[in-house]
Amino acid sequence: MVLLASLSLAFADPVAELRTEGCLACHDAGTAAGVGPPLGAGLAEVEVTTAGATRTVPRDEAYLLRAMTDPEAEVRVGYPHHVMAAVGEAKAKALLPALQALGPDSAPARGGLAALAVAVLAFAAGHLGLSAHSIRGPGVRRLGLGAFLGLYSLAIGVAFAAMVWTWSRAPFVPLWAPAPWMRWVPFCTMPFVLLAQVAGYSTPSPTLSGQGGLLAKAPTPRGIQWITRHPVNVSSSFWALAHCFPNGDVASLLLFGGVGLLGILGSYHIDRRLAAEHGEAWAQYAAQTSLWPFAGIVAGKGSLGRALREIGVVRILIAVGAFVGVLYSHMWIIGASPWPSG
Ligand code: HEC
Repeated sequence: MVLLASLSLAFADPVAELRTEGCLACHDAGTAAGVGPPLGAGLAEVEVTTAGATRTVPRDEAYLLRAMTDPEAEVRVGYPHHVMAAVGEAKAKALLPALQALGPDSAPARGGLAALAVAVLAFAAGHLGLSAHSIRGPGVRRLGLGAFLGLYSLAIGVAFAAMVWTWSRAPFVPLWAPAPWMRWVPFCTMPFVLLAQVAGYSTPSPTLSGQGGLLAKAPTPRGIQWITRHPVNVSSSFWALAHCFPNGDVASLLLFGGVGLLGILGSYHIDRRLAAEHGEAWAQYAAQTSLWPFAGIVAGKGSLGRALREIGVVRILIAVGAFVGVLYSHMWIIGASPWPSG
């Protein structure tokens, strides 16, 4: 819920809309020239080259639509030909209100990146701090496990919403131009990520929040736990890191890189807390499993066949269904196509 609310809030904004469409890779939303002309300069008319001749045309609604649907017909003087790709008519009409809403102050302030960095830090520090033995122990004793975990989720949810919000408003500072093959990276990674999430959440595990007590029963690893004992965290990392590839800008790297790093650091952190709290029982469970995916299987601790049998067909089918669901809702929720062809 928090996720969907923060996403829809974040994208109900003209700059965010153009950003997710990829326009801000070449255009400044305010007044600065980039590869393409600034979109928020508020000019009444512009000088264009049409069929070799230069003329001045009003920069009205009709011009903006022509500039999007047929960029080569009139090219702004001082800017390159054959760089801007034509936008389909329906999308151009849909983007028109966002273009018209821009003004000289629309470009996100550079400070936006600092705000995003603070939100990412708060998200990571919230996770690591609140689950640290010295804070979690007294917190659980005073409030009870349920109330402590409720407060924990609330704090993390707020930090997550702040992260998505500041990301959608951060200035676009490209580091690399995403190549078409980079779109395949999340496309190929996500089915496995979703399987690990489905199996991770549906298999009782001492590494899941609030389930450390399972260690008292000397549990045998099951299903996905043969592949990694932190399926939810580690696959969240892969999810985030895979998304860095087709998003080569500073803000996205802060967001995805932060979440990616946290998944791994958080797993180490949970291992240390469980070792401190459960001693020998944890050592036994840890010895049968690995943090890094497949490291345990390579070391002969379990077999892939057994893992897959215990994961079972139902979970695999649910993960496939989730993947198809994400493919068809990604555009609607995030505003960017998840298909490798764009
Ligand atoms: C790869 C770089 C690039 C991308 C991405 C890009 N543009 Fe452009 N755009 C240009 C260039 C270069 C020009 C100037 C040349 C021309 O007029 O065709 C331009 C011109 C324009 C103009 C005319 C602006 C004016 O004031 O004259 C509009 C409007 C525009 N683009 C909208 C968009 C929108 C909307 C998107 C996103 C869907 C977008 N552009 C994506 C490079 C790009």
